[in-house]
Amino acid sequence: MPKVTRSKVAFVCQNCGYTSLKWIGKCPDCSSWNSFVEEEVLNKPRSYTAGRISEPVLLHSVRSQEEDRVPVGIIELDRVLGGGIVRGSVILVGGDPGIGKSTISLQISHQLAEKGKKVLYVSGEESVGQTKMRSDRLYSKASDNLYIVNATDIDSVLEFIKKFLPDLVVIDSIQVVYTQALSSSAGSVSQVRECANILTQLAKQAGVSMLLIGHVTKEGTLAGPRVLEHIVDTVLYFEGERFSNYRVLRVIKNRFGSTNEIGVFEMGITGLSEVKNPSEIFLAERPKEVSGSVVVPIVEGSRPILIEVQALVTKANFGVTRRKAQGIDYNRLSLLVAVLEKRLSLKLFDKDIFVNVVGGMKIEDPAVDMAISLAVASSNYDKVIPFDTVVVGEVGLASEIRSITNILLRINEAQKLGFKKCILPRTNYQACKSLGTGGMSLVPVDDLKGAFYNLWGENL
Ligand code: TYD
Ligand code: MG
Repeated sequence: MPKVTRSKVAFVCQNCGYTSLKWIGKCPDCSSWNSFVEEEVLNKPRSYTAGRISEPVLLHSVRSQEEDRVPVGIIELDRVLGGGIVRGSVILVGGDPGIGKSTISLQISHQLAEKGKKVLYVSGEESVGQTKMRSDRLYSKASDNLYIVNATDIDSVLEFIKKFLPDLVVIDSIQVVYTQALSSSAGSVSQVRECANILTQLAKQAGVSMLLIGHVTKEGTLAGPRVLEHIVDTVLYFEGERFSNYRVLRVIKNRFGSTNEIGVFEMGITGLSEVKNPSEIFLAERPKEVSGSVVVPIVEGSRPILIEVQALVTKANFGVTRRKAQGIDYNRLSLLVAVLEKRLSLKLFDKDIFVNVVGGMKIEDPAVDMAISLAVASSNYDKVIPFDTVVVGEVGLASEIRSITNILLRINEAQKLGFKKCILPRTNYQACKSLGTGGMSLVPVDDLKGAFYNLWGENL
């Protein structure tokens, strides 16, 4: 481990970890205000690779290594991780408090322990008894290879790891672990970063995989896991609404697999279970013959999912209009409303507009544009979009419909769930009409006007 020479005091942004010698009001890195707090900073190399000196070699002379990967056995999670947990890798699981981070970590621990891997669960937030209670809810019998300890001092955690030499260590959570080398309190940026660095070094040296749990806090009083993103190998975020049972595990960074993949889970009385057919679940309560509702096939990583987009357009009461977007970017909604007003002469300036993505998903795929525009138009005119129709396409500023990726994946998913018609960009149509798409009728459109005409004809 690098030698600690002396420590100095600096001001650290509690939001992103930016360090400055003097106090500043606005962070130059993440633009947050009033986020700088005086903290002790250790004068030693940060990166776990620092200090290792090696000569440059020709790239082609380097022997490629196959990663030593252990599948967890939870399909939704293995997909997100790119096939399983790589030996010696460090995975950060972030998310709001109460979303299910400890639950999934315990489930992962159980699965690996059942496969004969030695697992050490370091619980700093809950007592050993509390974790046992959770384990009893999830499994009838705890595995023989699963050890648990209540610790927060990094030195004792390191001791335990060196003594037990487990295959996987879970740190629940990184914000309660501290090093005595720093006088700042546990959870401060310096502490979180320092402890994560120490653990990462050990993971690489000893070939132990680590799962670090980190809370995201809106206030930024506790150091958010964002400061750790560049230290760890993989960053997973748990998304979902507090009052919905569905949770989406999204990969933000992965040195050992692709990003953009998602895993869908349902929280039940026996923990998190995999949702293998999210489309069916997200469409289960879809209303029939109601204006403002439309289905769009989006693609998350390698996986198509059908999502219902709902819009409600009503007359504003006091001259002040409200625009609300849930699950999509608010600015994207404003832009699409502007396109509808300018290019299609919809009168929306005196209307309240609410758009909602059903099921608590957050969509960034631009293919949702046409669905949002048509849902708003459908609610505005009170004209229904047929129940068996899906729409997909990006909308440009001239209201043109632009092509999107993975069209066949999307069409196949829609077909599997019984949809009969797909309105899609003309360029995509040219590409897939020759490939044949079974019983699905494909309707190519050039612009939003074309889509309007196809859905509702002349009499708008
Ligand atoms: P938890 O994993 O403790 O969240 P985090 O570690 O992210 O703070 O999960 C907490 C919530 O999950 C809590 O509200 C109870 C609920 N839960 C269930 O609904 N079923 C279960 O089997 C378990 C273990 C938890
Ligand atoms: Mg927890």
